[in-house]
Amino acid sequence: MKYVKVAQTAEFIQARKKKISIEGRQILLAYVDDAYYAVDNTCTHMGGSLYDGKLDGDHIVCPRHGSEFDLRTGKLARSGKMAFIKVKAGDIRTYPVKIEGDDILVGI
Ligand code: FES
Repeated sequence: MKYVKVAQTAEFIQARKKKISIEGRQILLAYVDDAYYAVDNTCTHMGGSLYDGKLDGDHIVCPRHGSEFDLRTGKLARSGKMAFIKVKAGDIRTYPVKIEGDDILVGI
């Protein structure tokens, strides 16, 4: 595994999310309670961009049908709904994050 510099901590003074691309993968980098999390940006249901979703504590809610994922583990925490029917989404992939000085690096 190699670590790639993707952002600086100063970017997260105002923002809580950033969408990054590493080797063709779209990754959501989120900052919650003094910790950084990196997960696949693409919802496992129908490909919604999780970056456009809402942070709810350490969960991210898909903007398309509301499936909710735990940023720490990538686990599906709650299935969203389409016309009152629960959708089938799977877990999302997580990536390790490390901080070196002011730099944020994601392992891939
Ligand atoms: S695309 Fe994310 S819940 Fe449907």
